[in-house]
Amino acid sequence: MNEYKTILVTGGAGFIGSNFVKYMLENHPQTKIVNLDLLTYAGNLENLNDIEENENYVFVKGDIRDKELVKNLFDEYDFDAVVNFAAESHVDRSIEEPEIFLTTNILGTQNLLDNAKAHWQIGTDNEGYPIYRDNVRFHQVSTDEVYGALGKEGMFTEETPLSPNSPYSASKASADMISRAYNNTFKLPVTITRCSNNYGPYQFPEKLIPLMIGNVLELKDLPIYGDGMQIRDWLHVKDHCSGIDTVLHHGKDGEVYNIGGNNEKANIEIVDLIIENTKKDLEENTYEGIDTNPDDITEDLKIHVKDRLGHDKRYAIDNTKITSELGWSPSYTFEDGIVETINWYLENQDWLDNVRSGDYQAYYENMYSKK
Ligand code: NAD
Ligand code: TYD
Repeated sequence: MNEYKTILVTGGAGFIGSNFVKYMLENHPQTKIVNLDLLTYAGNLENLNDIEENENYVFVKGDIRDKELVKNLFDEYDFDAVVNFAAESHVDRSIEEPEIFLTTNILGTQNLLDNAKAHWQIGTDNEGYPIYRDNVRFHQVSTDEVYGALGKEGMFTEETPLSPNSPYSASKASADMISRAYNNTFKLPVTITRCSNNYGPYQFPEKLIPLMIGNVLELKDLPIYGDGMQIRDWLHVKDHCSGIDTVLHHGKDGEVYNIGGNNEKANIEIVDLIIENTKKDLEENTYEGIDTNPDDITEDLKIHVKDRLGHDKRYAIDNTKITSELGWSPSYTFEDGIVETINWYLENQDWLDNVRSGDYQAYYENMYSKK
């Protein structure tokens, strides 16, 4: 197994990235993590409060599209791996404003690939292919949404043709393609993981699960797009982190690995579970700052709203490759994971309030200027 000396993690102040940074510091204490994040609306240094002082951790505010910055970081830290989480990640925003998805998700990835290639190349072989130093890897974090949508039957395998439907998934598919091309054309050691919908702590409350938990607590409408029968295949964020770690250390160059937890659920089932379990939790426990009466939490909060344009009907991941070839398996059942997740948001009401308040960006800037 390769132990990396210094890893560039991009987007490490977001939901999955912040969980991953902490996972790596805990599980690979000999590895230094440099977190490059632009702190867009989705990036939050508060997610990383508990590791701020860790001597193996460095935060850099900046843009993956910034050529000079990324080159300087490679020169300064001599990374031997890159894990690229940084992205615009929300489908609904990509429908409103596609352009930023294309520049960040595609051109940002290409800039990272170019710098990895330039920094790791130590020569050229007889055919003209670059030769790289040993034990380096570029890992692209992708999504099952690149495969498009499924009908009632079937699952996405790594061989499923890419057929992205939203501007978000099209930009992620493009990033996969350019990563694949750098492996094919330049032999850059690249791996890609495609994961299903994540849930867990620190998810920005524009996504289904934290949005619904936040709204239940405020007794606000729970907006279900269309009939709510769309299906997503849910994976706990910590299982995603362990899957990426497995591929980063044991995956084969040039390969794609799906990561999924075999947890298909219709959106409406998720909302029902959130109503039921938040109510139960509040009946059994009291939380500072939460005065919601559990008796007021009822099914009546659910409302059906206009469907998302081009809404993908069903995602389902076949995880046979990563489980059989690399021995990875998820550790959470959805039933336990959702209860733990609801409890986390109840216990971290301040986090939810802060993230949702308009002044929060100023808080991030202030945090950054202190570093
Ligand atoms: P997120 O929106 O919570 O976080 C994205 C992070 O990237 C933020 O911290 C943001 O500040 C940063 N960022 C955005 N643009 C940047 C730029 N130009 N330069 C540097 N940093 C920038 O997203 P997430 O849910 O944590 O997703 C992380 C990755 O995982 C994304 O690549 C996403 O496509 C992928 N993914 C997410 C899911 C999911 O369910 N959330 C599922 C599969 C794959
Ligand atoms: P989301 O969390 O945005 O993830 P993605 O679009 O990447 O799958 O949405 C998950 C599902 O929940 C998706 O089918 C859209 C639906 N949804 C709602 O019904 N209401 C909402 O308010 C949101 C945010 C999502």
